[in-house]
Amino acid sequence: MVTSAPANQRARQAIRDTWGGEVEVRGLRVMTLFMVGVASDPGLAKLLIEEAREKGDLIQGRFLDTYSNLTLKTLSMLGWTRRFCPQAHFMAKVDDDVLFNPSALLHFLNRSRNPYEQGDLYLGRVHLHVAPDRDPESKHYLPSGAYPPSVFPDYCSGTAYVLSRSALLKISLAASASPLSTPLPPEDVFVGLCARAAGVLPSHCSLFSGGPGVPYWRCCYQAMVSVHHIPPRDMLHYWADVHSSPPCSWLNLRASLGICKVRAMLGTALG
Ligand SMILES: *[C@@H]1O[C@H](CO)[C@@H](O)[C@H](O)[C@H]1NC(C)=O
Ligand SMILES: *[C@@H]1O[C@H](CO)[C@@H](O)[C@H](O)[C@H]1NC(C)=O
Repeated sequence: MVTSAPANQRARQAIRDTWGGEVEVRGLRVMTLFMVGVASDPGLAKLLIEEAREKGDLIQGRFLDTYSNLTLKTLSMLGWTRRFCPQAHFMAKVDDDVLFNPSALLHFLNRSRNPYEQGDLYLGRVHLHVAPDRDPESKHYLPSGAYPPSVFPDYCSGTAYVLSRSALLKISLAASASPLSTPLPPEDVFVGLCARAAGVLPSHCSLFSGGPGVPYWRCCYQAMVSVHHIPPRDMLHYWADVHSSPPCSWLNLRASLGICKVRAMLGTALG
C-alpha cells in the first residue's frame, strides 16, 4: 500500500514502472495499490478519476488530502486492507518516494521466520524513545493536552513498514477503538500507539533506510528493503541498473551494506 498525494502522479507512475509493477516475486503473489485522499482542487480531482479508471490501482479515502490528515490516510489504509485483503499474509505501507524491494523483503522474511507463520510482525526501522514535538511552530507540534506522556512508545519509521495479517488486524481494531486527538499524532507514531495498545511489539530491520539518504550503490540497493527520498526519474534509473547487470555475490552484498551505511553517515556529516 503506497500512501500518495493526489498531485504525485509522476511518483505513482515511476512506482508502477518499477517495483510496483511486480506481480510475482520469489514465487509469491504481490500487489501494489495507492492510497489517496480527496483533492481540494477540482482539476486534480478530475485527473485522479481518470487515472483510477485507467490504472485500476487507486483507493480513495473520505478525507481531504492534506499533510495534517496523513494519519487519516493510514487509518483508511488499515481498515481497507483488513476488509478487502483477507488472503494477504503481509502488508507493507510505503511512501511514494521510496524505492521498495519486495524481493529483498521476502528474502529477509524467509530467512527470519516461516512466511506462512501466523504470528504478529510489525517490522521496519524502529525509532526509540522519541519525545513529542512541543514547539508550536513545528508541523509535528503535539501539545501535551493531546498527548501528555513525555515519550512515545517505540515505533517503525513511516517511510516503509510491514505488518503481518494478525498484527494488521490487531492494530487496525485498536486504531478504530482509540479516540482521535486534535491535532493527530504523526501517522507512524499513531501506528506505534495502536500497536502498543494491541500488544504488538515493533521489530527493527536495518535493511529499511533511516533518516540519512543512501547514495546510489548497485549492490547495496539490491540488498536494501527500502530506500527513501528517491525522485521518480532516479527510481526508474536505479531500478533498471539494479536489475540489469549480474546479481551481486553474497560477499559483495554484505560488504556493500557496510559501505552504504558509512557513505550515508558521511553524506549527512558533509551536509
Ligand atoms: C525460502 O527458503 C527456501 C529454503 O532456502 C527456498 O527454497 C525458498 O525458495 C525460499 N522462498 C522465498 C520466497 O524466498
Ligand atoms: C481532514 O479531512 C477532513 C475530512 O475531509 C476535513 O474536514 C479537514 O479539514 C481535514 N483537515 C485538514 C487539517 O486538512
